[in-house]
Formats: sequence, C-alpha cells, structure tokens
Amino acid sequence: MNHSFLSSTFGTQYPILNAPMAGAASGQLAAAVSRAGGMGMVGVGASTTAGWIERELGVPAQSGHAWGVGVMAWALQDRMDPLHQILEYNPSLVSVSFGDPVPALKLVQASGAKTAVQIGNQDELRQALELGVDIIVVRGAEGGGHGRNDVGTLPLLQLALEATDRPVLAAGGIATARGVAAALAAGAAGVWVGTRFTTAQESIMAGPLKDRIASADADATIYTRTFDIAQQLNWPARYGGRAISNAFAEEWTGHEEELAQLVRGDSDMAERMGDARGNADVAMAPVYAGQAAGLTVSGQTAGEIVEELAGYRAVLKAAASWL
Ligand SMILES: Cc1cc2nc3c(=O)[nH]c(=O)nc-3n(C[C@H](O)[C@H](O)[C@H](O)COP(=O)(O)O)c2cc1C
Repeated sequence: MNHSFLSSTFGTQYPILNAPMAGAASGQLAAAVSRAGGMGMVGVGASTTAGWIERELGVPAQSGHAWGVGVMAWALQDRMDPLHQILEYNPSLVSVSFGDPVPALKLVQASGAKTAVQIGNQDELRQALELGVDIIVVRGAEGGGHGRNDVGTLPLLQLALEATDRPVLAAGGIATARGVAAALAAGAAGVWVGTRFTTAQESIMAGPLKDRIASADADATIYTRTFDIAQQLNWPARYGGRAISNAFAEEWTGHEEELAQLVRGDSDMAERMGDARGNADVAMAPVYAGQAAGLTVSGQTAGEIVEELAGYRAVLKAAASWL
C-alpha cells in the first residue's frame, strides 16, 4: 500500500533518501541525490548559522526536484528562528528528530510540508503515530550519528510496519543495494541512508574524517556521549552518538560523570576538542558513522552512490525466485 508513496508524493524515481546529516549533508549533496532520482536531505545542526542556511538551502531549492531538511528538536527548543528561515525555502519534507518534536512539528504542518520523525524505540513510535507524523523513520541502533541505542533496524522496522499503514522508512546500517532490497521487501516505503553518503564527494565532512570512515570495519564504531560532554552540547542524555572509535572515546566512555566534572572545572578540554575538530584530528574529534562504515567507498559522487543503491531491483528480482 505504501510502496509508491515517495514517487507519488515527491516524484522520486527511487525510494532512496540521504539522511540529513549535520556536518556532511550539504545543499550540494542533497541536490545531487535528488537529481539522481532519490530525495536529497540537508542536515541542519544545532549551531548552524542563518548565513549557512541561506547558502545551502538555496542549492536544492533551485534544483527543480523535491528535497528536504532535517532539524534537531532539542536545538530548536528555545529558538525557532532557524526553522522559520528553513520553511521560507519550501522544502517538501522536514524531519524533526531527537527531543520533543511537538513545537517544530506544528510549524512544519502549518507550512504544508510533509513531516517525518526518526524513532528509536516503541515509545517514540507510539508518540510519532499519535502526533500524526506523515512519515515514520525507524532508526536502528546500528545507525551512525546521534540516536537511541535501544533496538536494531530490522526489529524496529517490523514493529512499525505491524503498527501502522503510514509510510515507514528504514534507517540504520543500510549501505548497499542488498540492504535497500531487504527493507523494501519487508514493506518499507523507502530507505534513509546516512553513513554511506558521508564519504561522497559532495559531503562537507573533512577529508581525514572521510578517509577514516572509508577505511573502517563494521565493528569499528562506539556508541558514546563523551564527545557531546566534552563540547558541553545540550544533547538530551538519551541520545548518544555512534562514531568511529578513537583514543578519546575509548578513554572516557564509561567515565562520563568524571569527564563532565573535568569540563565543568578549570580544564581546557572543551578548547582541545574544538581544536581537534578544527584540525580534523581523528584521534580526538568525533567521526560520526554507523556500522555501515564497513561498506563505504571513497571518492564516489552522490549520484554514483544512488545508482549503485538502485541495484535493489536486481536483488528483489533474484529473491522473487522464492515465490
Ligand atoms: C555524520 C552524521 C551526522 C548526522 N547528523 C544528523 C542530523 O543532523 N540530523 C538527524 O536527524 N540525523 C542525523 N544523523 C543520523 C541520520 O539521520 C541517520 O539516522 C543515520 O545516519 C542512519 O544510519 P546509517 O548511518 O547507518 O545510514 C547523522 C548521521 C551521521 C552519520
């Protein structure tokens, strides 16, 4: 029933969205994904400036294709200005994730754009359904970047599909045509792919971070709040982040309270973390990516990645021999 939702609503050729990723999914990336037949999403972070929004959203807005934006609910709690500005560019879809989505969802619903929320467990699924969100994105614990570490993608996907007729997108660990086919065969309306696009040419992630992801194995990641604590970011504690493990995360994961005390005190930790991020020092800075890091390829364009993922059609045909 939901299989053609994305093509009939947004005119996409393939049921493939790039995940909105602050620090990776720029306007160029989103426009390239939309041009290639998927649906591009721009990631707007907590500290994104009005100038950045103006520069980046102008790109997909002029592409002639549908595109979307992802915002972080917790970061908008006390300042809705970025969302007002985003809506001026008429995105077709706005995803509101991580925190209380209600105030932002109201604004997006009033604008006429479709809404999406990433859910990571059954409570969040129930809440999203009650709020009348148009598209449910099930985001499994294997996914990259911030989110819940509660349930894997496949059980979450099945739970959501059993619970609703609304379109459900699968996120977390999907990085190849096989992964796309698996989600579609289960009944997903499409896939929401993050880590695989971090290494795209159009991704704005720094080169050394892309290289680290491209060379990582699937078991190289760690789920941790330590990077947020070190930077004194106000991420709700229930949303840690999955990143490529490094010396800093290994030292402090499990010692979060000690780290918080250190940062609150007189230490230069926040400054050192800021420098590490600025210098793309992968031994200290966060390199957010999920278990799909083991499946990334360096140097591809976003369009090439979409084309490769579109190989799901051959995978589904082969699976149909079981019918
Ligand atoms: C580098 C990076 C940055 C991310 N930033 C955001 C973000 O700004 N907003 C958001 O809603 N999700 C963000 N996410 C999470 C993605 O939306 C998505 O849940 C995740 O990438 C899916 O799992 P995958 O990485 O295995 O494909 C980010 C993920 C990564 C890897």
